[in-house]
Amino acid sequence: MNILKKEDNFDHNIFFEEIANIKKDYIKNGFVFISSSKFLELLSYLGVSNSELDFLKTIGNNLPPDPTLKFRESRNGRFFHNNSQGFIYRTEFQPFVLSSSEDFIRHDSGQLRKFTGLSEDLTRNAAFQGLLRIKNLIINNISIHPRPNLNYKTSDWVTTVFNLRTLTSKDLLGEPALEGVHSDGVDHTMTTILGYENMTDDSAITHIHSNEEKSGIGFSQTKKEYLLASMRHKNFLDTVLIKDNEHKHSLSPVYQKNEDKLANRDMLIFFTRKPCVEGHVSFDYDSNEPHPDYPVKFNVQ
Ligand SMILES: [Fe+2]
Repeated sequence: MNILKKEDNFDHNIFFEEIANIKKDYIKNGFVFISSSKFLELLSYLGVSNSELDFLKTIGNNLPPDPTLKFRESRNGRFFHNNSQGFIYRTEFQPFVLSSSEDFIRHDSGQLRKFTGLSEDLTRNAAFQGLLRIKNLIINNISIHPRPNLNYKTSDWVTTVFNLRTLTSKDLLGEPALEGVHSDGVDHTMTTILGYENMTDDSAITHIHSNEEKSGIGFSQTKKEYLLASMRHKNFLDTVLIKDNEHKHSLSPVYQKNEDKLANRDMLIFFTRKPCVEGHVSFDYDSNEPHPDYPVKFNVQ
């Protein structure tokens, strides 16, 4: 990979033209696939170095077990996008909850989940911060179908980032979306691949369904007329962005190529929504206080 560091002669025009093109597609379809090469180009305009990009590829090697899913390792962390003042920062720890009223139907729906926090190696990485900055630019100032009990009067956003590894062994099938057809209870879901090992080509395909599709069912039970698109993260930083309240999605499992070895798939998931107002399931867990021990703050542009 040969990424030029363009920080010194940052071409605002090209960078914002590229963002505008992605935004146009996103507005038109309600979802967009951003290829690895496009993301690498955008990050290069932000001055992200090769070593920072390479580091992202290894971050999945140091994850603890997930609190509720046996086939997964995970960490998470929250970021507050203060768009009126132009910066994004990490918030203090908050438990995480998704309920069935948000079209998330799984054995742990409604359960307060406490994940280990993201490592500082990740949150201080310029490539990671670039992903958040670029997402922020794409989702700002576009119309979305609002969810109940979120504050759409503000330009701010709250993003919960998950660093996930899904594992498949001979005895345990790794399901990136065990919940079947679902939404993530947010406004904009972004999924970015960091890497994978020993995974077949028909693994972890993302299917996008219209909201008429029934939540909680497996892909084999879905209706063809509700299937809008299918796409697969293949190369480092291939990304899917979905207007989460306008479309549902599902994913196929992670299958092993060689059954004697583990298969794994490493992802960053960015759940972004407006701040909660009273009545929302996450209202009591929506702090915007900065993280007391591992603070991180960076400009939106
Ligand atoms: Fe999801």
